[in-house]
Amino acid sequence: MKYSQRVNSIQSSPIRKLAPFEESAKKRGIKVYHLNIGQPDIKTPEEFFRAVKNFDKKVLEYCPSNGTEDLINSMQKYYSSYKMKFSKDELLVTNGGSEALLFALMAVCDPDDNVLVPEPFYTNYFGFGQSVNVKINPITTKAENGFHLPSKEDIISKINPKTKAIMISNPSNPTGTVYSYNEIRMLSEIALEYNLWIISDEVYREFVYDNQEYTSFGNIPEIEDRVIIIDSISKRYSACGARIGSIASKNKGLIDQILKLCQGRLCVSTLDQVGAAKLYETPISYFKEIIEEYEKRRNVLYYELMKVDGVVCEKPSGAFYILAKLPVDDAEDFAIWMLKEFNKNKETVMICPAQGFYSSEKLGKNEIRLAYILNEKDLTTAAKLLKEGLKEYLSLKIKSFNYKNDELPLS
Ligand SMILES: Cc1ncc(COP(=O)(O)O)c(C=O)c1O
Repeated sequence: MKYSQRVNSIQSSPIRKLAPFEESAKKRGIKVYHLNIGQPDIKTPEEFFRAVKNFDKKVLEYCPSNGTEDLINSMQKYYSSYKMKFSKDELLVTNGGSEALLFALMAVCDPDDNVLVPEPFYTNYFGFGQSVNVKINPITTKAENGFHLPSKEDIISKINPKTKAIMISNPSNPTGTVYSYNEIRMLSEIALEYNLWIISDEVYREFVYDNQEYTSFGNIPEIEDRVIIIDSISKRYSACGARIGSIASKNKGLIDQILKLCQGRLCVSTLDQVGAAKLYETPISYFKEIIEEYEKRRNVLYYELMKVDGVVCEKPSGAFYILAKLPVDDAEDFAIWMLKEFNKNKETVMICPAQGFYSSEKLGKNEIRLAYILNEKDLTTAAKLLKEGLKEYLSLKIKSFNYKNDELPLS
């Protein structure tokens, strides 16, 4: 049987692709520290579980396609604390930020259109685009200047008649970059001048360090009819398994169009929305401690990495990721070697090769993305293991073992 070109062209998630090697290492009794995936270890606030436990309906019914009234009310209040005023009919609840991104692309692009995206980008943007035949049009950014945006002229030179939107994650996964007010203004001007939508993925909105200022596209009134804010409780409240995200837009026509997509999938999990409604009531003060914790972890990982010869990275100011260049030819080969061959006292570390975060060929081949989602002690151990692993790998003087062509271990 034949598969569609569409699914054939979708790459396996670089974040999950190495899982069989990890499982095999675990079966050999090796403890694997995870720096590869953005699954926070912070406790989900109790309020979520309490609300779900107190749910007392006798039938678990479908709820409205746009979301439950309680959750939409809480989201409205949450946004107003960030000076974003959305009415109830300007908000839609989705199955995670993932569905919100997919629906936004479906609503503003036709097949063969493209969206401008700062590169490296959240790798699933690629898959979402491919699944609806929309191309990523990369705006390449560089480690050397903290992955900030190039000039307005450079960005404009990328626009063609099929460009329909700018899609951006701010703070960025995978670079941790927080875009400045001037960068947000520049993109807003481009969107106005070239009649583009802005799909602003702000799922890491609270995760900003060093007292840096954060600007949301939702705070730029001149472009309110073209901004689509994507959100999620996954990272914000450490509730990845709840699968609750959202779309917010002052463009009611757009919301009506996306509502049709929401109706097609009937509704989002009623119980998860019951819990999420309580999470969105969490006072903003809740984030203070969390941000301090992540800032501490960022510092630990960054300073440990700086001790490793040949590693190049900028100190990121947001989200919980660091993108680092390694002195290797092929970071994926090294990542597999760490799981297959390396251990120190039966411990190793799993990292995420960064090539899948680029759509421009050859970029990112010697880069990795690290997520600082472990506690300080484990993070220090993981960083030391990485350092020792790298030293040993380089000392073998063979730059690539060609593991990618190996059979993946079964299971
Ligand atoms: C930048 C970004 N956007 C969206 C998502 C999707 O999140 P979810 O579908 O869990 O809400 C993620 C998840 O890692 C992300 O990093």
